[in-house]
Amino acid sequence: MLYRLFAPLVDGLDRRLPWRRTLNRLLSDPVPERGGWWYTLGAALFVLVFIQIATGIFLMFFYVPSWDHARESVSYIQNEVYLGWLVRGLHYWNMVALVLLIGAHMARTFFSAAYKAPRELAWVLGVTLLILMVATAFTGGILRWDQGGYFDAVVGTTIAGWTPIIGPGLAALWRGGETISSLTLTRTFTFHVWLLPVGLVVLATVHVALVVIQGQFGSWVNYEPEPAEAEPPDEDELASQAKVRREVLSPESRKVNLPWRTTWFFPHHMFKEAVVTGAIFLVVFLIALTFRVPIEEPIDPSTTTYAPSSMWFWLFLDQLLLLFPGAWLIPFAVIGVPTVMVVVFYLLPWLDRNPALKPQSRPLAVMFMAVVILSILVLALLGASRVFNYDFVGSPG
Ligand code: HEM
Repeated sequence: MLYRLFAPLVDGLDRRLPWRRTLNRLLSDPVPERGGWWYTLGAALFVLVFIQIATGIFLMFFYVPSWDHARESVSYIQNEVYLGWLVRGLHYWNMVALVLLIGAHMARTFFSAAYKAPRELAWVLGVTLLILMVATAFTGGILRWDQGGYFDAVVGTTIAGWTPIIGPGLAALWRGGETISSLTLTRTFTFHVWLLPVGLVVLATVHVALVVIQGQFGSWVNYEPEPAEAEPPDEDELASQAKVRREVLSPESRKVNLPWRTTWFFPHHMFKEAVVTGAIFLVVFLIALTFRVPIEEPIDPSTTTYAPSSMWFWLFLDQLLLLFPGAWLIPFAVIGVPTVMVVVFYLLPWLDRNPALKPQSRPLAVMFMAVVILSILVLALLGASRVFNYDFVGSPG
C-alpha cells in the first residue's frame, strides 16, 4: 500500500538516478566468511565517527569559543540545556570508544597481515586516520577551557614548539602569538570542529572505498585451505565466490590470493556489523547515562597548586618521560618517540618483507607489535596509578 503510494516517485527517481543498481552493487559485495566478526570493527568505527559529528553539532549550538565564555557555555550545556549533559556525555565517551576501537581495528589488521600488498595504501591511510583521531580527541579536551583544558593547551603548544626547524613557527601559529590567548582557543576550535573532522570523514571514505575495491580479503584466515571434514559451500557462498573471481581480485593477485570461504555483504555481514556497532553504542550510552563528564575549576594561569595530568591516551607517553633522566632529554622523548613510531607504522608494509601471512610464520613482526602494545599498556597503567585522581562521578561544575 505504502509502496504503491510512493512508487511513481521512487521509479521516477530511479530512471534519472539509478539508485537501485548502485545500492544493489554495494549490498551484494562478496565478503569473508571466516573471521567475519573481526571484520566488523571498521564499520563500527565509521558509524561512531558520524555519531561523534552529530553530537558535536548539537554542542556547537551552545558552545562559545571565547576566553570568558567557553567554560561557562560548557557548564550551561551540562546543567541547563535539556539533556545537554547526556549529549555531552555521549560526545565524550564516544570519543573514548573511538580511540580504543581504532587501536583494536589497527591491531586486527596488523595481526591478520592485512597491511601487505596490495593493501598498503589502506594501511597508510589508516595510520593517518589514527593521527587525526588522536588530534581530534586532544583538541576537544582543550575546548573545555577549564584548568585542565588550559594546561593541555600550554603543554600541546610547547611540544609543538619543540619540533625541529618549524617548531617555533608552528607554536606561534597555534597560539596566535607568543602566549596562550583567546586566539589559541579559536584556532583549536577551528581544528576540532572543522579541519580534523573533515579530514577524518574524507580519508575514512577513501579508506573504505579502497578496501571495497580491493576486496576485504587482507586477513590470512581467508587463505587457509579447507579441512577435509568441512561442510561444502552453500548457494550464497558459491555465488559470492564466483563474483570474487570475476570482479574483485586483480588478475595478478588471482594467481596467489583466492579466498576460500566468502559470502554476501547483505544480509550476512551487515547483520554482524549491526550487532557489534549496536552493542558498542549501547555500552557508550549506558556509560554516558551513568558517569558525568567533569568540568574543572576556571582558568588560573598563576596557580602553584594545580597539578596538570595528561589526557588518558597520552598517559603512556607521560610515564615514559619519567624514564628519561634530565629535563633536556624530554623534548627528544616527546617528539622523537612518537615520530619514530609513526614513521615505522607508515613504512611497515615495506619494512616487513616476509611474504608469509600467518602470525606463526611472522614471529619478528608479531613480537614487534606485541612489545609495542604491552609497553603502551604497562606505561599507561603505571601512569594512571600515578596521576589519576579524577572524580568521574563527581558533581558537574
Ligand atoms: C576512522 C578510522 C577508520 C575507519 C572508519 C576504518 C574503516 C574500515 C572498514 C569499514 C574496513 C573494512 C572492514 C574491516 O576490515 O573492519 C577497513 C579495513 C581495513 N583497515 Fe580500516 N578504518 C579506520 C582506521 C584504520 C587504521 C588506523 C588502520 C591501520 C593503521 C586501518 C587499516 C585497515 C586495513 C589494512 C584494512 C583492510 C582489511 C582487510 O582487507 O583485511 N584502518 N577499515
